[in-house]
Amino acid sequence: MTREDLIDTNRKIVEAVVKEVAPRSPNAILIMVTNPLDAMTYLAWKVSGYPHQRVLGQAGILDSARFRTFIAMELGVSVENVHAFVLGGHGDEMVPLPRYSTVAGIPITELLSEERIAALVERTRKGGGEIVELLKAGSAYYAPGAAATQMVEAILQDKKLIVPCSCYLTGQYGVRDIYFGVPAKLGTRGVEEIVEIELTSAERAALEKSVALVRSSIQALKL
Ligand code: 2OP
Repeated sequence: MTREDLIDTNRKIVEAVVKEVAPRSPNAILIMVTNPLDAMTYLAWKVSGYPHQRVLGQAGILDSARFRTFIAMELGVSVENVHAFVLGGHGDEMVPLPRYSTVAGIPITELLSEERIAALVERTRKGGGEIVELLKAGSAYYAPGAAATQMVEAILQDKKLIVPCSCYLTGQYGVRDIYFGVPAKLGTRGVEEIVEIELTSAERAALEKSVALVRSSIQALKL
């Protein structure tokens, strides 16, 4: 089962919950953790009627935590030394960016062969499935829980913390009207800024594939 296969069941749950939550808590900030993540965050935004800055999705911290872990294991260094960058939708087309992923400040492209990096990228993309396979029933919960906590703390404490999360795009990265994983500054107002970085043509092509997958998931909702 892919994350997209969950759309029909989960849309009913998200719609029902958000319909109850939004009128009672009109000033809340919603952090979605339901798959397919970017489409469910889009749905929650529509149903809530909140400004898009107050609806966001947790996925990028989880995906980059996996990439960080695999890099640390590969190089035999502390995960604390590793910073990893993952863009894109929370699906098998997510876009881990090796050029922007570093160990003690050194890009991993200087430390690992292309083949090893490709293997770590692939394992990161399929990381959700790997956990489901091990658990048999259920899916990852420790890391998504820890990631959501980090986002909540950033917002409550107005940290201005830049983390990857699913945000509504209004032209950033040349993309409009979808929720998509990008680096965002989180503070009291929710998503306070989206950080844009330069991409190579190969990175852009990977991003476009991920955009297409998220767009088709959102279109399937027929909102
Ligand atoms: C995960 O990546 C299944 O989306 C869930 O763990």
